[in-house]
Amino acid sequence: MSATMPPSGHGDHGSEAVAVAAERRWAFIVVAIIAFMVLLMVVTGLHWAAMPPSRVETVDVRTVHLQGEFVESNLGTTLGADGKVTVRLIAQQYSFIPQCIVVPAEMPVTFRGTATDAIHGFVIGRTNANTMLVPGFVATFTTSFPRTGEQLMPCHEYCGTGHEAMWGRVQVLPPEEFLSKARSGERLSCVPR
Ligand code: CUA
Repeated sequence: MSATMPPSGHGDHGSEAVAVAAERRWAFIVVAIIAFMVLLMVVTGLHWAAMPPSRVETVDVRTVHLQGEFVESNLGTTLGADGKVTVRLIAQQYSFIPQCIVVPAEMPVTFRGTATDAIHGFVIGRTNANTMLVPGFVATFTTSFPRTGEQLMPCHEYCGTGHEAMWGRVQVLPPEEFLSKARSGERLSCVPR
């Protein structure tokens, strides 16, 4: 009989059996949880491969400046014939093109962006506009801005020695003001000319 354990009604042998059974039960539950999580990691890892979390659209880094959607004249904000607002931008060491982006408030805005050299990313002020920009892939998401005003847009993926200096600006205009500026398929930005 143990000197420290008070005698129990079930006796030492009974309580030990109960403890062993409880330990076995918990060991089984823990192993099951770990096995489930490993299975989840394997399945999602294989399913997503190494792709960015948005849709998987690729773009050739070598020709991104020269042809296709991300040539310089096509960057900035457009108002489509269907009334949809699209912002196209490029991130490179250590700036965004365009440096200043114009968007309307209270309207859905679709961003399409890519990077030319390293992994960059951006977040716009305290909004939920937030993405990584990976060379070779097009990052895209749609959001809307409830408030007008100017927001800062820092790069939020460490991309080299100039990372802290990599900022853009976003001007959120009242919808009427934006619509009066955005005519005739032009690319809008607020970069000073
Ligand atoms: Cu670009 Cu950090």
